[in-house]
Amino acid sequence: MRRLRRTPALRRLVAETRVGVDDLVAPVFVREGIDAPVPIAALPGVVQHTVGSLVAEARELRALGVSALVVFGVPGARDAVGSAASDPAGIVQVALRALRDAVGDELVLIADLCLCEYTDHGHCGVLDRGGRVDNDATLRRYGEVAVAQAAAGADFVAPSGMMDGQVGAIRAALDGAGHADTAILAYAAKYASAFYGPFREAVDVAIAGGGDRRGYQQDPANGREALTEVRLDLAEGADVVMVKPALHYLDVIAAVRRSVDVPVAAYHVSGEYAMLAAAAELGVVDREAAVLETLTAIKRAGAQFVLTYLARQAAELLGR
Ligand code: PBG
Repeated sequence: MRRLRRTPALRRLVAETRVGVDDLVAPVFVREGIDAPVPIAALPGVVQHTVGSLVAEARELRALGVSALVVFGVPGARDAVGSAASDPAGIVQVALRALRDAVGDELVLIADLCLCEYTDHGHCGVLDRGGRVDNDATLRRYGEVAVAQAAAGADFVAPSGMMDGQVGAIRAALDGAGHADTAILAYAAKYASAFYGPFREAVDVAIAGGGDRRGYQQDPANGREALTEVRLDLAEGADVVMVKPALHYLDVIAAVRRSVDVPVAAYHVSGEYAMLAAAAELGVVDREAAVLETLTAIKRAGAQFVLTYLARQAAELLGR
């Protein structure tokens, strides 16, 4: 076996998996009411952007060859139903318009579609009188958010709230409002993960009463259930399906890849990034090698593209 491993050129020739800048999607945060970018301590190197600094970052990422951005908003005010999420003047809609004006069609713009950044209780949906997340009332809100994001120029809306029926409701709302061209990147298999910790700081979200999302996100114990989620989302009109997180769910990525013919995405999430950053900071792993190995593994499992806070670092490495 060692004959084909002898030189870098031989290894390159026979590599089964390649990572390129085209595979990279950068998650970005834009915050209302700030006049300079704010660093996110839990995500070293990642910031909450102003609209202006976000546009500058987008131009740089495009120049590095990154394919797409997924945009998250941090609103100035929150309420029970997450009104700012669907407000045409809400921060994500403002940012999408500015990004589209700045980069045209050269970057794919993905809008994360959820209420958790916009509700005062921090849940991904609206609550019923008993304080439980109300699935169907939430679907109506998701439809409104999707239409606002599409009108602001999103190529994709990406529902991440794990409500049953969310893809179908969003597809119907988009089509009904004349946005048949707007695609849906479904967070199809999204697990209730400890690795979202730094993200909650990035968007300043705490769930009221110390609650969690186990009532709607998937149990990490279940792999086959992911295939059911994926089938349902495809039947409802998803264009791309995603598995999240990535590294602890490579088996799920591989199983989904085998079971569908649409593109499969993976989200290398905030806690995964933060672990790598911390280990590199301690000097216990080599940062550059670890970045490339991580992305290679996610692609090898079957992901077509990867949402990752490593996008910029990786694009710089791959461009050298
Ligand atoms: C919102 C959402 C979350 C993430 C992406 N969209 C947080 C959550 O579900 O709690 C996590 C992303 C990350 O950790 O990088 N529903």
